[in-house]
Amino acid sequence: MKKITIAIDGFSSCGKSTMAKDLAREVGYIYIDSGAMYRAVTLYSIENGIFNGDVIDTEKLKNEIKNIRISFQLNKETGRPDTYLNGVNVENKIRSMEVSSKVSPISTLDFVREEMVAQQQTMGKEKGIVMDGRDIGTTVFPDAELKIFVTATPEIRAQRRYDELKAKGQEASFDEILENVKQRDYIDQNREVSPLRKAEDALLLDNTHLSIEEQKEWLFRQFNKVS
Ligand code: C5P
Repeated sequence: MKKITIAIDGFSSCGKSTMAKDLAREVGYIYIDSGAMYRAVTLYSIENGIFNGDVIDTEKLKNEIKNIRISFQLNKETGRPDTYLNGVNVENKIRSMEVSSKVSPISTLDFVREEMVAQQQTMGKEKGIVMDGRDIGTTVFPDAELKIFVTATPEIRAQRRYDELKAKGQEASFDEILENVKQRDYIDQNREVSPLRKAEDALLLDNTHLSIEEQKEWLFRQFNKVS
């Protein structure tokens, strides 16, 4: 069967990665979480004195961006890919509230996006890939055969992220997460380079009232129509 490219974009914490991972596993495609890549750059910036308080040392980051190697490796226990930053597993660290609150400003930087987009396009050269993010259908893979744009209310999305962090035993405050979700929505939609928006040819999925199972069925129907 001919392999295609699948782009899944949408707002923070709307279940994009769950659906993308499930679909990729089911159809034997590679799954790439592009948000994890921006999170890894953010973690690098925090740990290397580039992001101090509210200030980003853009010159230093520009000089070091080419040295930031991001890769993914399957975690045999969870059955999901873990994110590696320069060879170190950072999967848990990049999901912290500190990284969540700093990732959107880092993602507005044009040279960061340029580098990430180039790496993502290389990963998808052979097709047979499901990538989720904010600009996959608009910028990274504008010719993707299947494009989905996912949304849900901010409250539902904050609740999902809260449940996820709690399940991992991490400290979490619902109000703080809701504030973070709204703030990231705003920055992601209003930045100059590749703002979050639905590609014209993307299918819209509002999953506020859908269970994971219902969402999965919907996604498979769309995949079967185009593959
Ligand atoms: O998907 P996730 O919520 O983990 O993404 C974290 C952040 O990374 C987003 O809020 C957004 O600022 C940025 N991002 C982006 N472009 C992508 C994926 C994520 O700007 N393709």
